[in-house]
Amino acid sequence: MKNSILVEKINQLRKEKNAIILAHYYQVPEIQDIADFIGDSLQLSQQAAKTNADIIVFAGVYFMAETAKILNPTKKVIMPDRDAGCSLADSINAKDFELFLKKYPDYIVISYINTTAEIKALSDIICTSSNAVKIVESIPKDKKIIFAPDKNLGNYIKKLTGRDMVIWDGACHVHEEFSLERILELKKLHPEAKLIAHPECKEPILLISDFVGSTSALLNFVKNDTAKTFIVATETGILHQMIKACPDKAFIPAPPTDSTCGCNDCKYMKLNTLEKIYFSLKNEQFEVNLENHLIEKAYLPIKRMLDLSL
Ligand code: 13P
Repeated sequence: MKNSILVEKINQLRKEKNAIILAHYYQVPEIQDIADFIGDSLQLSQQAAKTNADIIVFAGVYFMAETAKILNPTKKVIMPDRDAGCSLADSINAKDFELFLKKYPDYIVISYINTTAEIKALSDIICTSSNAVKIVESIPKDKKIIFAPDKNLGNYIKKLTGRDMVIWDGACHVHEEFSLERILELKKLHPEAKLIAHPECKEPILLISDFVGSTSALLNFVKNDTAKTFIVATETGILHQMIKACPDKAFIPAPPTDSTCGCNDCKYMKLNTLEKIYFSLKNEQFEVNLENHLIEKAYLPIKRMLDLSL
């Protein structure tokens, strides 16, 4: 089916069914262009928490749709592709995490939103890349912290806040793959360019970056900064909004180590297509279902984060 026909059908269905489409910045441009709301992980969870829609179509990855379900247990939350997972969320499982937590009984547990509901249920509070500093600083100074699962974000926040933190050894497959050497070569080719990076990148890349922030912070930075060229070290999907917002500026995706792998595209985020969104609305598939006891346990740490992020 042609994209214009798909868009027409999607518009009709979302109206009929009182549905909204939430899309992360890492989605393909044609999905971003039809979304009711585009945002980073925090903005999407805030949007999910306040929607009046009956159906939420989550164009993102599983942990995002799961978070929307935890915030809206009585609503239908659907995903266009049931295999849209997250390498970071996969880098930790509840059984291992429970054993790990036993070693640090008095610690406060902060988990990144890129985790399963089971991990959230074992946590005291959730954070995203845009509020991680604020969340860590909300914990009383005499308390030690466990941060899971992203080691790069964790180490970055540990350095910024100077807090005593034990960090899980997880990482995102996209942000781990950026090549310092190839970025340095690009900087030589474009000496006027500013390097901007997501805090899930490895430390050597963060150290040479002109700005580090969540996807929405990166987008705001390029809108407000005077530079005309930016090397962008995060998933390539964000470039669509950057180009739209700043058509007079140039954006160069930071390269991964392997020049042939296309690893600066998240293989999970990119599973979603317009056609799958159409079928998900039409057939109300693939629904996210969670046990009530899990929803209850995972809700509290998410709510604590949302209350601190107003
Ligand atoms: P933000 O949406 O917080 O920028 O994080 C993106 C993400 O999920 C990276 O893996």
